[in-house]
Amino acid sequence: MEHAYSRLLVVFSVLSLCLGNQGVRCQLTSDFYDETCPHLYTIVQQHVFTAMRAEMRMGASLLRLHFHDCFVNGCDGSILLDRSDGEKFAQPNLNSVRGYEVIDAIKADLESLCPEVVSCADIVALAAGYGVLFSGGPYWDVLLGRKDGLVANQSGADNGLPAPFEPIDSIIQKFNAVGLNTTDVVVLSGAHTIGRSRCVLFSNRLSNFSATNSVDPTLDASLADSLQSLCAGGDGNQTTALDVSSGDVFDNYYYQNLLANKGLLSSDQGLFSSPQGTANTKDLVRTYSHDEDQFFCDFGWSMIKMGNIPLTGSEGEIRKNCRVVNS
Ligand code: HEM
Ligand SMILES: *[C@@H]1O[C@H](CO)[C@@H](O)[C@H](O)[C@H]1NC(C)=O
Ligand SMILES: *[C@@H]1O[C@H](CO)[C@@H](O)[C@H](O)[C@H]1NC(C)=O
Ligand SMILES: *[C@@H]1O[C@H](CO)[C@@H](O)[C@H](O)[C@H]1NC(C)=O
Ligand SMILES: *[C@@H]1O[C@H](CO)[C@@H](O)[C@H](O)[C@H]1NC(C)=O
Repeated sequence: MEHAYSRLLVVFSVLSLCLGNQGVRCQLTSDFYDETCPHLYTIVQQHVFTAMRAEMRMGASLLRLHFHDCFVNGCDGSILLDRSDGEKFAQPNLNSVRGYEVIDAIKADLESLCPEVVSCADIVALAAGYGVLFSGGPYWDVLLGRKDGLVANQSGADNGLPAPFEPIDSIIQKFNAVGLNTTDVVVLSGAHTIGRSRCVLFSNRLSNFSATNSVDPTLDASLADSLQSLCAGGDGNQTTALDVSSGDVFDNYYYQNLLANKGLLSSDQGLFSSPQGTANTKDLVRTYSHDEDQFFCDFGWSMIKMGNIPLTGSEGEIRKNCRVVNS
């Protein structure tokens, strides 16, 4: 019953909005809400700014929220749904992805100002953009006009999102699966110039690493020492900055760290040190490590690409509450 209904919605919205379009979705544009919700930008800016003034890390958290939304069924706000069988509770997201309350607060303001106009998926995309900008990073025109999905895909999140323990080649495959290439992998990994990671996600590098090396040989020895003390005896939930040089600032130190064996996650250091798939990634890491302008410029383009990952399934709706589909 519910299935048949959502199918009907798909057919209806595809026909009514995208007649003649090849894809499932209309073209996104940067002026999508200029007539219908002109205060959108101010509202999102204010909320992201206030949240980051209370906790600088929130800029990073909002950026990651957009990434994890886009990789599963496209950027459709599906990660925001509060269903126990939803993406929010998938392994890469549970106790890990943050920022849901900021999105709720923005949505609440928008619903009183321009009700049922702005999608939750677009709020996430814009909030990610301001999170980067207010961390000192580049500005790009965030494209808008997404619809919120009607379903969440927990197995899609478990299988489609990259894990820090994976070899670079398999991470590249997961990006390829959503239309992103090796350059995008290296550029977007630069998001780890801000934000934090829990010990559970890198402590395998700190002890009993392999039969021959107790510590990951591609991890700087003194960094390994300090991470060992940070993580020792805890439950794995202790956190440290992903960019050990300047954790709150969006800059190109992430890449400089990799040249010095100071990447935090195995998937970070692997871009420079891994024997697999390195031909392209290693050169790009070098380029971005000495050319921050190039990194900033390419980051904006790759974010737009990521924001355009094709939707699978229904075109969806404009949710009134980002945590539940409209009844
Ligand atoms: C290349 C594959 C990637 C892997 C394996 C990966 C993995 C991770 C892991 C393990 C964490 C720490 C999570 C935790 O402590 O619970 C993290 C944090 C983060 N990731 Fe990634 N990530 C990848 C790509 C990306 C991309 C493409 C973006 C955005 C464009 C991104 C943005 C972030 C940010 C900003 C944080 C910090 C979040 C915070 O502090 O709340 N990551 N990532
Ligand atoms: C869930 O995600 C997987 C992997 O991204 C995809 O192959 C699958 O079609 C999705 N399922 C639904 C019902 O959208
Ligand atoms: C990835 O795609 C971009 C265009 O989106 C292109 O400029 C770049 O050369 C591509 N990189 C690789 C390794 O194919
Ligand atoms: C170290 O790893 C080996 C196999 O990889 C395992 O048999 C051993 O129990 C581990 N030791 C510790 C202290 O975790
Ligand atoms: C970390 O914190 C979460 C939530 O408070 C808890 O469920 C979990 O057991 C803790 N430990 C690890 C290793 O994740």
